[in-house]
Amino acid sequence: MKNTECVAFLQWALPQRDMRWPGFRKVRRQVCRRIGRRLCELGLPDVAAYRAYLEQNTAEWHVLDSACRITISRFYRDRNVFESLQNAVLPVLARAAIERGASELSCLSVGCASGEEAYSLKLLWEFQLARVHTALELRVSAIDSHPKMLERARRGCYQAGSLEDLPEAWRRSAFEPSDSVYCLRRQFRNGVCFTHGDVRHTLPAGPFDLVLCRNLVFTYFVESLQRKILGHLHARMHEAAALVVGIHESLPEHCIGFRPWDAVRCTYRRIQGP
Ligand SMILES: C[S@@+](CC[C@H](N)C(=O)[O-])C[C@H]1O[C@@H](n2cnc3c(N)ncnc32)[C@H](O)[C@@H]1O
Repeated sequence: MKNTECVAFLQWALPQRDMRWPGFRKVRRQVCRRIGRRLCELGLPDVAAYRAYLEQNTAEWHVLDSACRITISRFYRDRNVFESLQNAVLPVLARAAIERGASELSCLSVGCASGEEAYSLKLLWEFQLARVHTALELRVSAIDSHPKMLERARRGCYQAGSLEDLPEAWRRSAFEPSDSVYCLRRQFRNGVCFTHGDVRHTLPAGPFDLVLCRNLVFTYFVESLQRKILGHLHARMHEAAALVVGIHESLPEHCIGFRPWDAVRCTYRRIQGP
């Protein structure tokens, strides 16, 4: 399939699923390869035939939806974000939780892939902050729509390449080598819970102190859907909770209910809604 044909097809199809083409520009080859494989499975000659097929078979939109899921992640992705969480954001959230009389700091990872983000947060807490905030446990709920990713997340075993950005000492003490992979020790998996779900329709109940919503909603979804999901997140967050987005992402303009966290990139503080 020619790149130009696939791009034209994506520009037609994505908005119909509330997804935005610019978010897919960099990853289009991966998505086009998957669509090419689907054409072979269906015995269709080209994307024009696939477009006609989609118009007649509404169930096929779900297949296309899965072909558009980008699952790249790694531990401690964007190290600066985790350093800001450690130094600026989590201490503030922990103090607020203690003042409320809470015994848990409750976090959410949206589009958690194989658990890298959720477990990175847990490792950060256990290695850096737990000894300071002894009265608080960190709990992480994590949601993804891809069953295979969740299976891997629950297994907690990773290739060495996924762990490269983690501080070396954490890697050595938190993971056990097993065959050709590294498996996270049980103590670091406790308190991290994975749920299958599509964030367009469902989110865990909360209330959360911290939401990591990186490299999904604000890259791949159209603005109206971003605003809708933001509203749902807002309703599930504690007053003054934190929302972290990807380093190349930002919230839609004039967004009500969140304002940038002072001097911390990619991070917003929940404020009173409309
Ligand atoms: C690019 S990864 C981002 C992983 C992690 N947040 C990070 O920044 O490293 C996006 C994840 O979102 C999941 N995803 C895609 N569409 C979704 C949806 N509608 N609902 C829930 N998860 C979704 C994908 O399966 C994938 O694991």
